[in-house]
Amino acid sequence: MQPKDRLILALDVDTMAQAEALVEKLHDLVGVFKVGMQLYNSEGPEVVRRIQAGGGKVFADLKFHDIPNTVAQAGKVMTGHGVFMYNVHTAGGKKMMAEAVAATGQKAAEINIAKPLVIGVTVLTSIDRDTLNQEVGIQGLVEEQVVKWAKLAQEAGLDGVVASPQEVKAIRQACGKDFNLVIPGIRPAWAAANDQKRIMTPREAIAAGATYIVVGRPITHAPDPREAAEKIVAEIEEGLRDVE
Ligand code: C5P
Repeated sequence: MQPKDRLILALDVDTMAQAEALVEKLHDLVGVFKVGMQLYNSEGPEVVRRIQAGGGKVFADLKFHDIPNTVAQAGKVMTGHGVFMYNVHTAGGKKMMAEAVAATGQKAAEINIAKPLVIGVTVLTSIDRDTLNQEVGIQGLVEEQVVKWAKLAQEAGLDGVVASPQEVKAIRQACGKDFNLVIPGIRPAWAAANDQKRIMTPREAIAAGATYIVVGRPITHAPDPREAAEKIVAEIEEGLRDVE
């Protein structure tokens, strides 16, 4: 994997035109383009095809959470779209995750493509300990629950999890070196934090054990997005050297 393959650009826009402009500008500097519910619900699967046609791989960040059969069928559909990666909520349970992985593998074999990575969402970073304990009804620390769900995801056969920078080390330790850790909340030292609070630089996140980093506004809102992406890829390289 090249350093740039580890960079996932969040396409947090709601029109095809905006998405395509970013893909056209950045496809050679970015490994994967993340399509979330804003863009997908606005433009549908056609946006996935356009990104692919523009030379980009797609992370469908649609966070499936439903009964096992429904999630498995949705996973097949995403596989049919040829996405590189999609995600499901680990809170849906082991059976739901395992069926999603099985259906994804089956569909990929059927159409003769590489199996998309199936990634788990653990505790959303917007959920703090009080909310987790008092509203969601799960006791203990957020980090404990994150690690518990990451291990469950691994047991179910998922390829990795999404997590905040604060949890990378603990998950890496619990799940070993081959589990994919997809990490948002990334801010280079030279970028504005915006609404992100618990942040790490690209270099720190990679050095801590991130496999992929998810970056949006530090690139999309930069005066020169290509220069910003190049600087981030250079920081990823530095982080990889820190690991060695
Ligand atoms: O613009 P920015 O770099 O903050 O974008 C980060 C992306 O990662 C957004 O698409 C956001 O929804 C996503 N994300 C996040 N924190 C999480 C999970 C996802 O920022 N815990």
